[in-house]
Amino acid sequence: MITVSFACDDGVAPYRIGEGLLPEIAGLLAEDLNGRRAFVVTDTNVGPLYGEEIAGRLEAPCLQLPAGEEHKRWRSVERIAQWLLAHDAERGSLLVAVGGGVVTDIAGFAAAVTLRGLPWVAVPTTLLGMVDAALGGKTGIDLDEGKNLVGAFWAPRAIVADPLVLATLDRRQLRAGLAEVVKSAMIAPSSLEHILDSHLAPVAAGDPLQAQELVAGCARVKSEIVGLDARESGPRQALNLGHTLAHGLEAATSYAGFLHGEAVAWGLLAVLRLARDRGLLSTADALAWADRIRFLAPLPALSGLGWDEVAPYIARDKKRERGRVGWVLPRLGGVVLDVAVSGPEAAAVYAQLQSLPADGPFTALF
Ligand SMILES: NC(=O)c1ccc[n+]([C@@H]2O[C@H](COP(=O)([O-])OP(=O)(O)OC[C@H]3O[C@@H](n4cnc5c(N)ncnc54)[C@H](O)[C@@H]3O)[C@@H](O)[C@H]2O)c1
Ligand SMILES: [Zn+2]
Repeated sequence: MITVSFACDDGVAPYRIGEGLLPEIAGLLAEDLNGRRAFVVTDTNVGPLYGEEIAGRLEAPCLQLPAGEEHKRWRSVERIAQWLLAHDAERGSLLVAVGGGVVTDIAGFAAAVTLRGLPWVAVPTTLLGMVDAALGGKTGIDLDEGKNLVGAFWAPRAIVADPLVLATLDRRQLRAGLAEVVKSAMIAPSSLEHILDSHLAPVAAGDPLQAQELVAGCARVKSEIVGLDARESGPRQALNLGHTLAHGLEAATSYAGFLHGEAVAWGLLAVLRLARDRGLLSTADALAWADRIRFLAPLPALSGLGWDEVAPYIARDKKRERGRVGWVLPRLGGVVLDVAVSGPEAAAVYAQLQSLPADGPFTALF
């Protein structure tokens, strides 16, 4: 088992990562439980696989939300709150969220607002959840106006991930999670690049036994960044690497065209080209990253999606400040924040992405 520490309101939240941890969950959470009642929230896919078993071990009632991003809405939060109250939950009760980023985002937000705040624990079951969504205390839901527009910073008091659950995750979801892994490695290459090169191919091929080191490496990177800037006023913006174009692609296709990680993979290729053109990265380094992004393919093709459809959403991105969009670009050994990229320059890079084969290789970009 590897433990990585995250900050939370009560001090430090341990993130425990290890194969075979789920059957041990009651022991792992003994301190957090300490006489409290537990309540498990999961979704209809994860419930039968893991959620019900965890609820059994914690002697907790179990609520299964319908699976899918379209349920990351107010009505799910209301449903959780009413279910908790129907089961006589109190402010000391412990909510345990078992699932991907959709479940941990909704349940974490429900924990933040029910009875003005319940403690909660995250048990991420997707790779994206293990390396990103369940970490760092951002919780929230979507509105018609856009994704993640309502939420709270409300950190879990413990996180437990068992990479063995990745064996049942759809291969496409697994590859999408790897996009956030590659992103973390681009942000902090000195800690992650070597693990990436030995583990990326086997994890992409579906071997969950290779995921533990990658998850722990990404968690350490995120822990360090979130520790510097919990509320995303400065250094945490580094985590948006690749996300400026990604959010545009997702919004332009009404969140149905790409898995988040697939959009991030295209976004990472775009920032690599922008960085190489500015001399922030050598062509050789940009090529090495593009070669790693090949493991995330096949990606949904960009050929049918015009720049004129994507650009308005980039301009409206919620990270926009003072009227312009600041891009995060990679450089040797890390990233540069808040770089101005003109509309024509972004359009030209997009046209180059469109000409790449969606199943890779992507090296023709440089
Ligand atoms: N809070 C944050 O900091 C943060 C960061 C990144 C992403 N997110 C959010 O995370 C969400 C995406 O999360 P996701 O990619 O985990 O998607 P998801 O939660 O929708 O899970 C993907 C699918 O896999 C299923 N599933 C989950 N675990 C499984 C398992 N072990 N075996 C079989 N099936 C399983 C789910 O039921 C779902 O159908 C988005 O809403 C995004 O906004 C939040
Ligand atoms: Zn992301």
